[in-house]
Amino acid sequence: MTTLLQIRSSLLAGDSQSNRLADRFVAQWQAAHPGGRVVVRDLAQQPLPHLGLAHVAAFSTAADQRTPEQQALVAASDALIAELQGADVVALGLPLYNFGIPSTLKAYFDQIARAGVTFRYTASGPEGLIQGKQVYVFAARGGLYQGQPHDTQTPFVRNFLGFLGMTDVHFVHAEGLAMGEAPRREALARAEAQIDALLEPATA
Ligand SMILES: Cc1cc2nc3c(=O)[nH]c(=O)nc-3n(C[C@H](O)[C@H](O)[C@H](O)COP(=O)(O)O)c2cc1C
Repeated sequence: MTTLLQIRSSLLAGDSQSNRLADRFVAQWQAAHPGGRVVVRDLAQQPLPHLGLAHVAAFSTAADQRTPEQQALVAASDALIAELQGADVVALGLPLYNFGIPSTLKAYFDQIARAGVTFRYTASGPEGLIQGKQVYVFAARGGLYQGQPHDTQTPFVRNFLGFLGMTDVHFVHAEGLAMGEAPRREALARAEAQIDALLEPATA
């Protein structure tokens, strides 16, 4: 069964623009895949722990040497990775908070970046092990950043996903959302139009 994993990271729940844009995409995906399954991971509603020494030690200890506490830490990370590996499509809601990604999303990234599990180093460099996914990112920002050096968020997210093997990544940006009612309306309408075109069959 084809599966979409929706990852939410906004603090604002129902008022979130990144959630709203991702929801629009997910509704269209569901209409196009009536038998498809949608799995929602809400990192704001169910935050993950920050990565600590205990996690790093657990991840780097051989499976048969782990204490019960370490086994539990690894099992939690494994479950997140299995959820991601089980998805064909990922819809990621991406707010800009204080020039970066939400800390809850960073905690998620830290849980799924596992040497030997989601990436490995080879003689020719690193190799991502989460392959064959289509990733759609719905980025919402108060100001204007896209294409400028101070947009450090977009390249960070693209690089991180690519490092894990997710190279088919499409961004939709809604920017200027704090710059007045008219610019906000226009930015959201532009983002919605981009979303509406995402799943349209390509025309020759
Ligand atoms: C805690 C916080 C920090 C923010 N920091 C920034 C920022 O650094 N730059 C910016 O352009 N907008 C910033 N904003 C505005 C958000 O990017 C904007 O509200 C966007 O819609 C957030 O996505 P969301 O609605 O899905 O939560 C911030 C908003 C909050 C609540």
